[in-house]
Amino acid sequence: MTLGQALKSDEKILNTIHSLVEQAQEKSRQVEGIRPPSADQKTSYEEILDRFAEVRGRPLFYPYVGSGAGRGPYVELADGSVKLDFINGIGVHIFGHSHPTVIKANIQGSLQDILMQGHLQMNEEYLNFSRQVLDFAKNGSRLRHGWISPSGSMANENALKMARQKNSPARKIIAMKDAFAGRTTMMAELTDNPGYKQGLPEYHEVLRVPFYDKNDPDSTEKSLQILKEHIANNPGDISCFCFEPMLGEGGYKVAPREFFIPLLEECKKNNIAVWADEVQTFLRTGQPFAFQTIGFGEYVDLCTIAKTAQCGMTLYTEEYNPKPGLVAGTFASSSPALTAGTAIMQEMENGGFFGKGGRIEKIHNEFVQRLEELCKGSCKGFLEDPEGLGLMIAVTPLSGDKDKTMKLLKVMFEKGFIAFGCGKSPFRLRFLVPAIVTSEDLQVACAVIEESILEMKDQ
Ligand SMILES: Cc1ncc(COP(=O)(O)O)c(C=O)c1O
Repeated sequence: MTLGQALKSDEKILNTIHSLVEQAQEKSRQVEGIRPPSADQKTSYEEILDRFAEVRGRPLFYPYVGSGAGRGPYVELADGSVKLDFINGIGVHIFGHSHPTVIKANIQGSLQDILMQGHLQMNEEYLNFSRQVLDFAKNGSRLRHGWISPSGSMANENALKMARQKNSPARKIIAMKDAFAGRTTMMAELTDNPGYKQGLPEYHEVLRVPFYDKNDPDSTEKSLQILKEHIANNPGDISCFCFEPMLGEGGYKVAPREFFIPLLEECKKNNIAVWADEVQTFLRTGQPFAFQTIGFGEYVDLCTIAKTAQCGMTLYTEEYNPKPGLVAGTFASSSPALTAGTAIMQEMENGGFFGKGGRIEKIHNEFVQRLEELCKGSCKGFLEDPEGLGLMIAVTPLSGDKDKTMKLLKVMFEKGFIAFGCGKSPFRLRFLVPAIVTSEDLQVACAVIEESILEMKDQ
């Protein structure tokens, strides 16, 4: 036995970890539900917010600074208030706050000899994490290898390099209209939102295809025609087709399998890499990957994940295995993040979250039904079109008006509920629902949405 193995199996250490997790749980149990700020924290909290504004050069979007404590979907802020959190670090904390599995893995990871693991010197956590992801991916895809990275944007950069190297000298990228791909220079280029790239130059490397429009019966045919035109106009110069299986930042729009298949067939015929950007959808749609939920896995050459995984990863087939030297970087991820990411995936696999009748499906159905009741009932005319996949759900408030919806988000925040926006027109309310919510939590969420809409509807 190595000293490292001894450290992981040492009974005294394991008991200490167990005791630490228990003690943390005991504290977090005091987070019971939404509550207002404590009067005695008000001044110091305002100072913290001012300091944030100074550091960042502008105020925070939400006056949100976590205290470090929470319980399930509830989080305590540094002003002593408790909020119901349905955005979770924009989709990172799939088990919500202070989940025992995550805390335990975090402590276990932190006992490693190093904090950050890299691509030259790695510990076993790197392998455990990669094997768990690839094990999920085996089901219905040809993805066999993976390269870890610190973020979704970096995972995407690596996928693009792999596609371009394999299909060299092809340079261009087909991406969806309203796509979001991250914040690096190239991912900003792939992203179809002028608000996210003011003043940046255009590189003219991205060709757009419209995403599925459920209100247009010819949507699939139109997108296919546009894809074919791009291919005809750029012979041999298209390296990959990058798409989110469900449009994320672009409006939480869903498309059926029948929409994707003709597009992917066309890519295959023309030697264009099929790259599913699952940074937001990973672990969230009812199966580990959305390509499994929707059913187009056999077409995928490259797939990127991050967020719920706690770090990024680019998965690729045998054919797209990059030549040595193409992808690397100092950081892969931290030992606690790799340990926690692995533990989250294992618990989701063994805890009945995936599949027909799984916990994700139940949460989805109940939340959408409750939103539908609001749309047809007290919020009629001011709330419509709840839709999504698994734990990614959106609804359009106040006719999709962006300014009003931004105000609505702040009203809901004041009332103790955190959500976020997505899309352009309509601008929608989006929820990244943690996988551990109860019926009661969903009821609380809907009560705040209802109260806030009724307050805003005449403004
Ligand atoms: C679909 C998609 N791709 C890429 C990214 C970028 O990931 P990161 O913010 O980790 O760089 C995001 C982030 O929101 C995303 O939703």
